[in-house]
Amino acid sequence: MTTDGMLALHTLRRGGSGTPPLVLLHGFPLDHRMWLDVLDLLTGDPTVLAPDLPGFGVSPIGEDVAEHVGGTGPSVDVMADAVAAALRAAGVERAVVGGLSMGGYVAMALAERHPDLIAGLALLDTKSGADPEPARANRLRIADAVLADDSVDAVLPMRTTLLGATSRQTRTDLVEHLETWIADQGASGVAWAQRAMAARPDRTDVLRGVGVPAVVVVGEQDDLSPVDQAELMAEALPDATLVVVPSAGHMTPIENPEPVAAALSALLARAGR
Ligand code: MLT
Repeated sequence: MTTDGMLALHTLRRGGSGTPPLVLLHGFPLDHRMWLDVLDLLTGDPTVLAPDLPGFGVSPIGEDVAEHVGGTGPSVDVMADAVAAALRAAGVERAVVGGLSMGGYVAMALAERHPDLIAGLALLDTKSGADPEPARANRLRIADAVLADDSVDAVLPMRTTLLGATSRQTRTDLVEHLETWIADQGASGVAWAQRAMAARPDRTDVLRGVGVPAVVVVGEQDDLSPVDQAELMAEALPDATLVVVPSAGHMTPIENPEPVAAALSALLARAGR
């Protein structure tokens, strides 16, 4: 664990220097390990970096991260500022940034707050709108529950709800992976992230101003960030392609990694031109 409020930034793959690095932002309540299946499928020999977001994996808790970047939290903006600080500390001036779900919220905040860092944008199984009030209230209820229990039990059911119907029926290995990854997280990180996501604004207008190539990826069976939300983001982005991933729900990079890696590779090629 880093101790100074700086996010842990994992080098998942070291590639050539011809293209900007690919930076991958994980979903909730997971860590950088959710990206491992796409690494060997990427073409173009990219370097791939992945932080653990505040309170997840081996990164410091949200309060320490917020203090480090001079922000107030819990907030997705603090997460974005912390990713920017970690990238700059690692000498990264520009990167193709991809985020899944919560990672997508952070990627959109980065596009708004640190546009100079973004050479390309990949939004996977995410949405640009803010939460409606019942969803916001539910997040705050879960945050209170995990802290009261000092356990992540309240979010363990996500080991199946994150998956599409096909994976739920046929891929017990994925349910087991998700269970392990979720159980490895701490209650304080889960609570902080739920409060951060509850407070996030609508960033659809931010997408309209993105001046770099983009791709929007969504599992055809994603019930949490459905295809119509992906279409809305792809329409808002000035230069985006839309990729609908067959036989996958919300966790496209583990449910069907080949089309996800192909979409990311194509974006890297467009961004490197
Ligand atoms: C995620 O996968 O990151 C979550 O579904 C995000 C959310 O709760 O909105």
